[in-house]
Amino acid sequence: MLLFLAAMLFCCCSDESELKAEVKTDVKAEAAANIGKTLVVYYSYTAHCREIVNTLTSRIEADVLEIQPAQKGLRYEANGYALGTELLNAINDNPDDANSYPAIDPVTISLGQYQNIIIVTPLWWSQMAAIMQTYLFQSASQMAGKHVGLIVSSHSSGISGVVADAKRLLPDVTWMGEALWINASNHSRRASLIENWLGTLDFATEQTTMDKMYITIDGQAQSVTLEDNTATRALLERLQQAPVTVTLNSSGDFEIWGALGFSLPTNNEQIYAQPGDVILYNGSNICIFYGTNSWSYTRLGKIDGLSESELRSFLKAGESGISVTLSLRSDQASINTVKSEKLKDNSCFTLQGTLAQAGHKGIYIKNGKKVIL
Ligand SMILES: Cc1cc2nc3c(=O)[nH]c(=O)nc-3n(C[C@H](O)[C@H](O)[C@H](O)COP(=O)(O)O)c2cc1C
Repeated sequence: MLLFLAAMLFCCCSDESELKAEVKTDVKAEAAANIGKTLVVYYSYTAHCREIVNTLTSRIEADVLEIQPAQKGLRYEANGYALGTELLNAINDNPDDANSYPAIDPVTISLGQYQNIIIVTPLWWSQMAAIMQTYLFQSASQMAGKHVGLIVSSHSSGISGVVADAKRLLPDVTWMGEALWINASNHSRRASLIENWLGTLDFATEQTTMDKMYITIDGQAQSVTLEDNTATRALLERLQQAPVTVTLNSSGDFEIWGALGFSLPTNNEQIYAQPGDVILYNGSNICIFYGTNSWSYTRLGKIDGLSESELRSFLKAGESGISVTLSLRSDQASINTVKSEKLKDNSCFTLQGTLAQAGHKGIYIKNGKKVIL
């Protein structure tokens, strides 16, 4: 710690213009074409994390959110870092209590639109800076199911405590890979460190379009074009938290249906349901049609591009206890298939699972991980 305190006095920043010269714009363009929407969230007290974010966003297409403490002008390092220590002690004493976390400015941005989130945070006394802990504590449920990466900036201390804080605060996310540690001695080389790190990350691939969801049965995912009504908006919000799996049963030789396990707002009207229609019945049941029926329903959407006979086979017409997953992304199923069937050597595959051609740049799957080549 003494070494850290002494060295902090001589801490210097890097030459930003030198770094810009190293930027390869093709990586940024190719990543943007292939990966889902990314948000970079950061807090920075003495500007190192801000510099890291500037370098990072010169490599990937991302929106940026800066977390700010509600109380301005505080000096966390004053009196031997007394205030920083006090804030962390309060969290450590009672980590499940919202009152233990220092207040931050309200964040209005909705995380629903992002599939990937990269957190950039300073280390304070071997922990995550208290201000960033507040944001993660408040937004954990919104981040559930998202792909999350972590960059930690410290003077010299190792980052395992910050990684532990991140895992405690965000128990339900998918970590994109190992956290990246940038410290005073390698801060000036951050462009290449970030470049290499990005190549190891498991980004969520697909852009979520707000008029689509996916129905997966027995590993086969089919897209559904959604209506725009209060029921589908509530359903999308639900699916942004996590996919929903329901058990449906065949009925009347025209549908599979069953309880959603939660209610959605209804816009009921007399509907003559057609094959492929996805319908809300009585506010809390989902019906998926392979035949026709007339009833007072709320229309949710329609399965894209399957004929009546294909629908019968996809929906397991006539069977009971059919496990049906509703989700916003279809890539889980297809990437699993690629992993199990094709990833036995160092070959690269496209995200669609075909063998990549030599020399082509882009995002590929190699040994089960997405890599930027
Ligand atoms: C309250 C406080 C505590 C800190 N504790 C440590 C520490 O234990 N070890 C360390 O290496 N750096 C420590 N630092 C230094 C920061 O981690 C480092 O300067 C980091 O790059 C700051 O990022 P920022 O400039 O974006 O705020 C501390 C800084 C503050 C303000």
